[in-house]
Amino acid sequence: KRVVVLYGGRADEHSISCVSAAGVLNAIDTDRYEPIPVGITKDGRWIVGGEDPRRWSLDDTQLPTVQVTEGSRPVILDMARGGDGFMVGDHDDLVSGPDSLKTDSPQASGSLEPLGHVDAVFPVLHGPYGEDGTVQGLLEMMGVPYVGCGVFASAACMDKHYTKILLSQAGIPVAPGITIDARDRLSGVALKAAVEEAGLHYPLFVKPSRAGSSFGVVKVEETGADALAAAVDEASGHDWRILIEEGVDGREIECAVLAPDREGEPRTAWPGEVVLDRTDQDEAFYDFDSKYVDSSASHVEVPADLPDETLSRIRALASRAFKAVDATGLSRVDCFVTAKGGIIVNEINTLPGFTPISMYAKAWEASGVTYTDLITELIEGVSA
Ligand code: DAL
Ligand code: MG
Repeated sequence: KRVVVLYGGRADEHSISCVSAAGVLNAIDTDRYEPIPVGITKDGRWIVGGEDPRRWSLDDTQLPTVQVTEGSRPVILDMARGGDGFMVGDHDDLVSGPDSLKTDSPQASGSLEPLGHVDAVFPVLHGPYGEDGTVQGLLEMMGVPYVGCGVFASAACMDKHYTKILLSQAGIPVAPGITIDARDRLSGVALKAAVEEAGLHYPLFVKPSRAGSSFGVVKVEETGADALAAAVDEASGHDWRILIEEGVDGREIECAVLAPDREGEPRTAWPGEVVLDRTDQDEAFYDFDSKYVDSSASHVEVPADLPDETLSRIRALASRAFKAVDATGLSRVDCFVTAKGGIIVNEINTLPGFTPISMYAKAWEASGVTYTDLITELIEGVSA
């Protein structure tokens, strides 16, 4: 089967996607599948034949980026024929755009060539324009099967505000918080008043509603108006919709959920925890650098060191959360286990970090599904 592995993309999480795709391309069962890597540049151009993503790793001092290089050819999407999915061509063909697509045979139009039949697309994309339903919608329109959540769940889970609404409606506990619109340009004093009115306790976390990998997330410990205003300002660089949440006093536990064939009960892996190895506790929280740049700063522990009863409750809640947002395929449900033993769902990542050392893969490995088998299951679940 021919499987397009889509990676890179327009989001802040571009480089993480590149590393996730490297993992998939290195581990995919090549006896069963012919992977076709398709990179998306930061400005949204789709290319084939660029730099080989399999070489990319987390240890790269320079974060990997999809670039238009000499050997790369642009990809255009073939919706006109509703069949084969993708075509590649040179720049002139592409700029001639729709006309070349109108020909009965794409081969007839200059050097435009079809990439050929595609059995499935694996969008190994994180963040906006990849994990948010936009790519999923495009693939739906083209009639190409794809791995992971559909349009609705992808869009809903990309937006932390709406995720919370769906989860709350299903009776799933979420962190207390408020949502503000940065375009209202509320003063620090007004923000502080809103926080007080909602009865939120410090420390607070200020987060862009639509972003991943902790981009734009700021912890606010002091109760002054200035700190709050500065945090909102920082978050607003990523989204105008901003959550101000009460920091939950607890441990972050992540639960990998898998439902490849989109039917039946989702399966859950043993919940895991990212344990910081650093002895100095100066790190304000598990931020972007500790997540990706300084990977020696932490390790993944599966199952998390918690009583069996708590692990079971987390799995049950993760499964409920998965269904509450209409997720399919895969997701990683991130929870907090509070000091008192309560569990709240913090967020749902519909395309979680997907390297072999990411929580998602590690959790399944510890639960008896190897990384390669995980990729196979996900593809088999959607391709005929
Ligand atoms: N958004 C990143 C990739 C994650 O949740 O793993
Ligand atoms: Mg998380």
